[in-house]
Amino acid sequence: MDRRKLRSAIYRRHSRRAFADKPLSARAEQVLKGEIARINKKSGLHIQYLAQGSRFFNRLAGGYGMFKNVQAVIALVGPPDTPRIAPGYCGEELVLAATVLGVDSCWVGATYHKKDVKDCVKLAPGEALCAVIALGYAGPKRSLVEGLMLKFAHRKPKKLPKLFNEVQGTPKSFMRGMEAVGRMPSALNRKAVYFTFERGRVAAALTGGDKSGGLDLGIAMLHFELGAGLAGRWEKQGEHYLFYPELNNF
Ligand SMILES: Cc1cc2nc3c(=O)[nH]c(=O)nc-3n(C[C@H](O)[C@H](O)[C@H](O)COP(=O)(O)O)c2cc1C
Repeated sequence: MDRRKLRSAIYRRHSRRAFADKPLSARAEQVLKGEIARINKKSGLHIQYLAQGSRFFNRLAGGYGMFKNVQAVIALVGPPDTPRIAPGYCGEELVLAATVLGVDSCWVGATYHKKDVKDCVKLAPGEALCAVIALGYAGPKRSLVEGLMLKFAHRKPKKLPKLFNEVQGTPKSFMRGMEAVGRMPSALNRKAVYFTFERGRVAAALTGGDKSGGLDLGIAMLHFELGAGLAGRWEKQGEHYLFYPELNNF
């Protein structure tokens, strides 16, 4: 999907958990399935779209009562490698594509019936289910439970996480990238990522507080690229991932 559209979706997206009793439009479903096929081809992941999403949330066993009328889920399946950068990056591409299509969403790493999803997806030997993305149409107003979740998830940490080093002469594109990283969804809203700009090079890493198995870092990398208006590749070097922008800035 057009990266400019994905970038503007960053600033409109919020996690939503209570949806209307209304299935996804045929067009939204078709575009999302097309995006999943394209992303699987480029990444080697095995992401799958499952209709009738409520079945993965509704039973009260485990007390998972906080999702309502989930219409479909995107199951993030792939190699068991950690940190889970590719599932994070690609899953967030789908979250933002859904936002462009007017579909609301929420990343869900824990509060769903994992076994039921596993029974429905195709898992090749060695593949793992990393998380799901719940989809539906939320109303303009937050439900009571959503309001409580927001209060819980967005409780002010004693100190807001510092997401990057401040050095003199940091380019504007880096700051725009970091602004978009500040808007990322994140497990327990920890945003346990840290970016640096040194000697003309951007690097990203997870910090100790990560509760996402590395999904957050993949999400942050995509937000950085979109915010900065850059596209490129990330190469692992020790604990860091160095960013190599390619020339197709947008
Ligand atoms: C990897 C990951 C896992 C998450 N797992 C859950 C979850 O299990 N249950 C849930 O209600 N929200 C979950 N969330 C949503 C976060 O709570 C939410 O992104 C965060 O509070 C920030 O809010 P925002 O997305 O509206 O910016 C998860 C988010 C991410 C990125």
